Amino acid sequence: VKTTVSVIKADIGSFPGHSRTHPKILEVAARRLKEAEGSILIDSYVTHCGDDLELIMTHTKGEDNEEIHKLAWDIFMECAGLAKEMKLYGAGQDLLGDAFSGNVKGMGPGVAEMEFEERGSDPILIFMADKTEPGAWNYFLYKIFADPFSTSGLVIDPSLHEGFTFEVHDVIKKRKILFNTPEESYSLLAYIGAPSRYVIKYVWKRDGLIGASTSTQRLNLMAGRYVGKDDPVMVVRAQSGFPAVGEVIDPFRTPILVAGWMRGSHHGPFMPVGVCDANCTQFDGPPRVICLGFQVCNGKLIGPADMFDDPAFNRVRDQCCELSSVLRAHGPFEPHRLSLEEMEYTTLPGVEKQFKDRWEDLPE
Ligand code: F6R
Ligand code: MG
Ligand code: MG
Repeated sequence: VKTTVSVIKADIGSFPGHSRTHPKILEVAARRLKEAEGSILIDSYVTHCGDDLELIMTHTKGEDNEEIHKLAWDIFMECAGLAKEMKLYGAGQDLLGDAFSGNVKGMGPGVAEMEFEERGSDPILIFMADKTEPGAWNYFLYKIFADPFSTSGLVIDPSLHEGFTFEVHDVIKKRKILFNTPEESYSLLAYIGAPSRYVIKYVWKRDGLIGASTSTQRLNLMAGRYVGKDDPVMVVRAQSGFPAVGEVIDPFRTPILVAGWMRGSHHGPFMPVGVCDANCTQFDGPPRVICLGFQVCNGKLIGPADMFDDPAFNRVRDQCCELSSVLRAHGPFEPHRLSLEEMEYTTLPGVEKQFKDRWEDLPE
């Protein structure tokens, strides 16, 4: 039987403001998942990145399974209730619907799932981010699965030599396309270099083995109003024909800029941190990413290992602080603030509305 890893997340309220989930919420979520082990789940783990509650689950029911999604939805609803009782900030903010209808997709929570036949030994890495958008993974997935200057196995391991297939989603026009690397790398980059619109959803080996799966929902597009960024998650399989664990995490040593941060309206450095530092503070950020490593053993999650809780990532954290100072110095100016096109999905249009009648046409 195949094993499915499902990572489903939502911001159901946090403290103080949008900075972190409350321990009581984590406790309730963990207990509910434990209760489901032995019936619908094989194993589970609960954590948080910033204000996002992360449910990690293993089972044998495949992707998009109604029972699994309902379990996650019910837990989010119960936790949102608790968050309301404690008057936590933004209680229930990501739960856009009231009634569950078969799948949490389109209802607010983010979902990354993959189903696979377990190999002799199967390491997986689960990445979880706060204060950024799903396209933030694009750069890293390209480095991991397609950049020979980053993943040495692409060059020196015959089992990686043939390359990978990337499935890219256009989140605005709701369509998808496949690209094969290395031969179509430039074409792939032409799209994924615009991460607010084009988002890598899956990466496969050429023989169809699943290598990576991400969450791609865009809350603002769904809600039709500003409801924060989507704070994405991603699952990556490593070793024996896939990039090694170290090749998967090495690209996070580069301090790249992502969209999100304060009010979902600014570019900021993407800082890899240990779970103990997965709390958004400075200017509601900076955008953060955590990575938990597990071995999957007959559906059991052996772990976690907190991959970025490591002095090897101290330098990138310092660089992120430097970049943060440079960007913050811009105040309300671009390119710290997102482009006008992206600001359409924030609270800025509300300000512009106040002045719509004050503008006068210039003579031709
Ligand atoms: C970003 C985020 C926060 C809020 C900010 C303002 O995703 O959640 O930066 O946008 O704290 O929040 P409100 O409008 O709730 O006061
Ligand atoms: Mg929040
Ligand atoms: Mg968040």
